[in-house]
Amino acid sequence: MDHLVAPSILSADFGNLQRDVEMVNNSKADWFHIDIMDGVFVPNISFGFPVLKQIQKHAKKPLDVHLMILNPDQYIKKFKERGAEVLTVHYEACTHLHRTIQAIKAEGMQAGVALNPHTNVTLLEDVIQDIDLVCLMSVNPGFGGQSFIENTYDKVKALKEIIKRKKSNARIEIDGGVNALTAPKLLEAGADVLVAGSYVFGSENPEKTIEGLKNLA
Ligand code: DX5
Ligand code: ZN
Repeated sequence: MDHLVAPSILSADFGNLQRDVEMVNNSKADWFHIDIMDGVFVPNISFGFPVLKQIQKHAKKPLDVHLMILNPDQYIKKFKERGAEVLTVHYEACTHLHRTIQAIKAEGMQAGVALNPHTNVTLLEDVIQDIDLVCLMSVNPGFGGQSFIENTYDKVKALKEIIKRKKSNARIEIDGGVNALTAPKLLEAGADVLVAGSYVFGSENPEKTIEGLKNLA
């Protein structure tokens, strides 16, 4: 399976949001990665529905929405209306994770579960067949531009093994510190989706940077 590339809009220039969304439209990127933070689950606040509405208006590729919020259940319908095709919730933020996953799928979206760096992948064994995507956080969630946590490679391998053993179709997405150095090693370990924020938007030619990530074997 060819890997996917999902630029993280968190690192875009919000004063030129339409321009940056169109850059992603014109690039080899597969998805838009959209980070929603509530200032409670993570120590930062990103943006909410009015901004997402503008992204939805201009985006021509699937929206991969990463919720870093407590009690996501109450907003599932709203994110469907705002164009989310993949909706990812945090394992650490959901008391009734199985129910949350079913609610996301009932809205016709792909269901993702994100794991913080300290959360062991084996905790997903009992829901892995119900999930379309596992987002492994390779930094502590809340900010772009942090450095990559090396233990992630082992987590990718361990998760891949569980996915195979349980005959799950879940994709493995990596979020945080993805760049030219880490991306090839992540793909080798078994990653399927690369999220990249500061590496893409901080580069001189973001379209070329996306193409570089996409062209990795
Ligand atoms: C962090 C977010 C990431 C962030 C990644 O909490 O979930 O999606 O944008 O940023 P980089 O690629 O700069 O580490
Ligand atoms: Zn994210």
